[in-house]
Amino acid sequence: MARSNSKLTNFTIISVLVLFCSSFTSTEAYDPLDPNGNITMKWDVMSWTPDGYVAVVTMYNFQQYRHIQAPGWKVGWTWTKKEVIWSMMGAQATEQGDCSRYKAALPHCCKKDPTIVDLLPGTPYNQQIANCCKGGVINSWAQDPGNAASSFQVSVGAAGTTNKTVKVPKNFTLKAPGPGYTCGPAKIVKPTRFVSADLRRVTQAMMTWNVTCTYSQFLSQKTPTCCVSLSSFYNDTIVPCPTCTCGCQNNITQPGSCVKDNSPYLAAAIAAQKNSYTPLVQCTQHMCPIRVHWHVKLNYQDYWRVKISITNFNYMMNYTQWNLVVQHPNLDNLTKIFSFNYKSLTPYGTINDTAMLWGVKFYNDLLMQNGPLGNVQSELLLRKDTDTFTFDKGWAFPRRIYFNGDNCVMPPPDAYPWLPNSSPRWTVSLLPIVAFLATLTFLFSHP
Ligand SMILES: *[C@@H]1O[C@H](CO)[C@@H](O)[C@H](O)[C@H]1NC(C)=O
Ligand SMILES: *[C@@H]1O[C@H](CO)[C@@H](O)[C@H](O)[C@H]1NC(C)=O
Ligand SMILES: *[C@@H]1O[C@H](CO)[C@@H](O)[C@H](O)[C@H]1NC(C)=O
Ligand SMILES: *[C@@H]1O[C@H](CO)[C@@H](O)[C@H](O)[C@H]1NC(C)=O
Ligand SMILES: *[C@@H]1O[C@H](CO)[C@@H](O)[C@H](O)[C@H]1NC(C)=O
Ligand SMILES: *[C@@H]1O[C@H](CO)[C@@H](O)[C@H](O)[C@H]1NC(C)=O
Ligand SMILES: *[C@@H]1O[C@H](CO)[C@@H](O)[C@H](O)[C@H]1NC(C)=O
Ligand SMILES: *[C@@H]1O[C@H](CO)[C@@H](O)[C@H](O)[C@H]1NC(C)=O
Ligand SMILES: *[C@@H]1O[C@H](CO)[C@@H](O)[C@H](O)[C@H]1NC(C)=O
Repeated sequence: MARSNSKLTNFTIISVLVLFCSSFTSTEAYDPLDPNGNITMKWDVMSWTPDGYVAVVTMYNFQQYRHIQAPGWKVGWTWTKKEVIWSMMGAQATEQGDCSRYKAALPHCCKKDPTIVDLLPGTPYNQQIANCCKGGVINSWAQDPGNAASSFQVSVGAAGTTNKTVKVPKNFTLKAPGPGYTCGPAKIVKPTRFVSADLRRVTQAMMTWNVTCTYSQFLSQKTPTCCVSLSSFYNDTIVPCPTCTCGCQNNITQPGSCVKDNSPYLAAAIAAQKNSYTPLVQCTQHMCPIRVHWHVKLNYQDYWRVKISITNFNYMMNYTQWNLVVQHPNLDNLTKIFSFNYKSLTPYGTINDTAMLWGVKFYNDLLMQNGPLGNVQSELLLRKDTDTFTFDKGWAFPRRIYFNGDNCVMPPPDAYPWLPNSSPRWTVSLLPIVAFLATLTFLFSHP
């Protein structure tokens, strides 16, 4: 009897594990913590010109925690007819292209597939429009909704001059500045209405279309970029990031893939990699640009305390306005957070087990490149719920962590530090299910 029980529970464990794994791999293009996250690009045709139109293009970053940091966004599209860009405000095309068919006045850009970049801060005022000129940096919706949009104005020639003859551009692309975003087709929508500042007059666009772009971590980077290590006051073991999380130290197949700390070649390696978005990391066993460490620090009567440290191993990047998203069931009762900002995210309405953390402006909102300043840290004070709280079976460790919107790889659950005298055989989430099924089996086999 005992034998058939153990067979069935083994089978259960395997099938539950398979379910778990498949649910993780299928989340690649869809972000469960920000299911509606997208960047929407809205084109408002504000007026007609003799041979075309003037449009204001605004990008809204509707993503909760994924921002676009320096060196900023690059937007592209393909014209459907022979359109040209006469002039732009608040942004510019990177290349003029072949304008030889124009004799007198020369257009700003004649390329069939222009690439547009934002202007830099400090642009003369007569070339600016509202929400422009931030070097392509766009904040995330949760972190700073006031800076989550970016605009430019474009004057298009050789286009239609009525809402029937204008053809919307095709094949929109958004680089941030690397790959990761996929844009859908432009959809003509109801013309935007603009309300004047004193609310006494409403005007509207001649024509409006929207383009929605969504992010996929898989398109952005084939390998992970972040990992998690764990420790606790009740066990001396420090569980490191899994080996080879973001790559392996193998200088035969990939020479120069990492640089040892204090290496005399560091400056040369950084110079060789300039202008590329590939990270240049310090040699570690995990090879990740970012490591997040979660330390269960103290246990009080009604509270417990966690210390979080983020370390930058990348020599090529100062992370500006970085953010962290953490999922843990006890974050619904976060009592105090030290030296980071905090906002509760509720992707599914009511369950607030997910928190977004980010740096305090001018104090630690800049995570410097690898080196003595390449880390930031904070402590969380959480109030215990006596029904669920336990240090057993890794409960005190996070379920999920994202850095700048990218998933951080956790150590395998059976490696978590465990309480002295407890067995790690049953991991957190499997135990109740397995126990329940085992009970059922027992009941059925004893009629
Ligand atoms: C984009 O995000 C906004 C804000 O969350 C949402 O209202 C809109 O439906 C989203 N668009 C798409 C196409 O998902
Ligand atoms: C174009 O303009 C006409 C008249 O102003 C309006 O009825 C129509 O809905 C507009 N079409 C689009 C696609 O905006
Ligand atoms: C848009 O992209 C698709 C697929 O990449 C291509 O077949 C199509 O020709 C492109 N359209 C234009 C107008 O370039
Ligand atoms: C188009 O985008 C704007 C700005 O994001 C939004 O307010 C509007 O609702 C969108 N229209 C549609 C039909 O999605
Ligand atoms: C690279 O290879 C050389 C020779 O095989 C070895 O001495 C060196 O330690 C290796 N470096 C790293 C970072 O593995
Ligand atoms: C990071 O910032 C420091 C100080 O401003 C600067 O010296 C360094 O070059 C920056 N590193 C990168 C990769 O931009
Ligand atoms: C979580 O939600 C509950 C109920 O909606 C609320 O009382 C509590 O303050 C929230 N906790 C946090 C940390 O936002
Ligand atoms: C937080 O903890 C207190 C004390 O245990 C409890 O009264 C309150 O309901 C908890 N809040 C949530 C959102 O769980
Ligand atoms: C601490 O946890 C590790 C597993 O990560 C385990 O091997 C070790 O025995 C634990 N130490 C104690 C004192 O229980």
